Amino acid sequence: MTIKHFLQFSDFSLDEFEYVIERSRIIKRKFKNYEQYHPLMDRTLVMVFEKNSTRTRLSFEAGMHQLGGAAIYLNTRDSQLGRGEPVEDAAQVMSRMCDIIMIRTFGQDIIERFAANSRVPVINGLTNEHHPCQVLADVFTYIEHRGAITGKTVAWIGDANNMLYSWLQAAQVFGFHVNVSTPAGYEIDPGLVKADNQRYSVFSNPSDACAGADLVTTDVWTSMGYEQENAARLKAFDGWIVDSEKMQRANVDALFMHCLPAHRGEEVSAEVIDGAQSVVWDEAENRLHVQKALMEYLLLGRLA
Ligand code: CP
Ligand code: NVA
Repeated sequence: MTIKHFLQFSDFSLDEFEYVIERSRIIKRKFKNYEQYHPLMDRTLVMVFEKNSTRTRLSFEAGMHQLGGAAIYLNTRDSQLGRGEPVEDAAQVMSRMCDIIMIRTFGQDIIERFAANSRVPVINGLTNEHHPCQVLADVFTYIEHRGAITGKTVAWIGDANNMLYSWLQAAQVFGFHVNVSTPAGYEIDPGLVKADNQRYSVFSNPSDACAGADLVTTDVWTSMGYEQENAARLKAFDGWIVDSEKMQRANVDALFMHCLPAHRGEEVSAEVIDGAQSVVWDEAENRLHVQKALMEYLLLGRLA
């Protein structure tokens, strides 16, 4: 049997996402009703963190516990990964002792090498290039609030980072459009976007990118691993704040999303993130529900 991984958004078909989204709805309802649901009894998730996290750790750990399984946290500092054990060897060993593995690391190549040597499914909990679990939660959140995302317009204001590349893949899978505005010098790396992706347009003016959008979203100007560039980025991103003025260019019922953590006054104004159009807390909560559905699917396949 071939093992299914979730290393980037494009690893799943539309049909698979539709299934996972439906399961997320069911699993969320069970959780809200305090209904016990333990399909992953005796299964173990190993979570490897090479970067900081609040939401990803909490949602995977609590999620596995709620599904009847156990979760083990490893980080670079106190595992052998920090002392140079090859990723391929770590994958061989870890995947003989557990049922599923989530990794947050630096380069996408690291998780790809890990998965190639793993006997069990591997989930990307964020790399420099992708953050597919977050965009899955975001798409689910959009659908919960507004119905189908197909045919809609998403405005991405800010850095061409892991979140954007996952949004661009999601746009191809679900058939929506992304208006992208990044400052000069921080544009999309064409090497990280499929050549046939026609689902996005580039705008030099961030306000123009918001015009007619159904969803406006942004992220930190400096992602983890790029901290040495922070001062230069603060200067370059001046003007790329999502504020009320930009939200007014979007459709009247547009939502605002941010994967969090956020910096009020940098990429988003307090008025917007704490305002009526913002669904950031739903987005964060939905990490829990969609990842439970994702783990269920990767381990048990489609339930009849
Ligand atoms: N959004 C997100 O992945 O948050 P953490 O870095 O806290 O996990
Ligand atoms: N783009 C951000 C997302 C954090 C959840 C980062 O990679 O740091």
